[in-house]
Amino acid sequence: MTDIRATLRSVSLENPTVLPAGILGITAASLKRVAASGAGAVTTKSIGPQRREGHKNPVVVEVNGGLLNSVGLSCPSLEESIEELTSAVKESRVPVIASFYGRSIDEFGLVAAQVSKAKPDFIEANISCPNIEDEYGKPFGTDHRFAAAVTEKVKDSSKIPLIVKLTPNVPDIKVIAAAVEEAGADCISAINTLGPGMLIDLSSGKPVLSNRFGGMSGPAVLPVAVRCVYEIYDTVDVPIIGMGGIQSGLDAVQMLMAGASAVGIGTAVWKRGPEVFNVVSGELTRFMQVNGYRSLKDLIGRAHQ
Ligand code: FUM
Repeated sequence: MTDIRATLRSVSLENPTVLPAGILGITAASLKRVAASGAGAVTTKSIGPQRREGHKNPVVVEVNGGLLNSVGLSCPSLEESIEELTSAVKESRVPVIASFYGRSIDEFGLVAAQVSKAKPDFIEANISCPNIEDEYGKPFGTDHRFAAAVTEKVKDSSKIPLIVKLTPNVPDIKVIAAAVEEAGADCISAINTLGPGMLIDLSSGKPVLSNRFGGMSGPAVLPVAVRCVYEIYDTVDVPIIGMGGIQSGLDAVQMLMAGASAVGIGTAVWKRGPEVFNVVSGELTRFMQVNGYRSLKDLIGRAHQ
């Protein structure tokens, strides 16, 4: 019998696939739909301290190997987001992760306290969006001192287990991972989008995205994500949700072998619909059967042996 159940701290997942923040995660109805399609856990779109329009369209463009996006962390008001989150927590058949952000360290604490009232299984601090500036003019996740300060503030503000989402856009992700673990993170998710990158429209001669630059996701970033997860696993003891470019069960196997305990699938949902969660779980199971792996424990971190 092949067992693909996953564990993140004390939370069990029927399978290791996770809907990451930013895709189909605004309403309880869409989160429930993704859960019903086979995701092992679902994450809300990042919830902010107040309603935010985000950047003007176009905010997403397809490029070779994936997508560039610069949505700009658009979100409904905090009250509306918490209402949807509360329904999702009550009605979802799988664990719910509440992603959130602030523009300052104090705002991270305030929003963490508010979203925690809905009692999600985890809260996830998004310190890694490349498309907006925080009060220091860069994502908190690009500096180990700020990353740790946000983590500490959130831990002081909430009793819900905390995931911290890291950016690959740093010289050494190990330093950031170590800092957030030391500051109290219960799990790490990685990676947020790569870059930022840029696409220029040849007829107008202008950038395609209204915000000019956007974070890259999709299959082209998988090797970067696998390397980041490999390095994080070498550095910390907390579980890792590995994400970035996973499209198939075999991509998920790579991520698990690099050290992830669960795998996020985002851009592939955009391309193939929520059915991709079942497809990835099925392919993962078949790989394990053919190669004699009985449980995920046999795969996780195997590349380090
Ligand atoms: O622009 C965006 O909303 C992207 C957010 C993220 O990558 O976390």
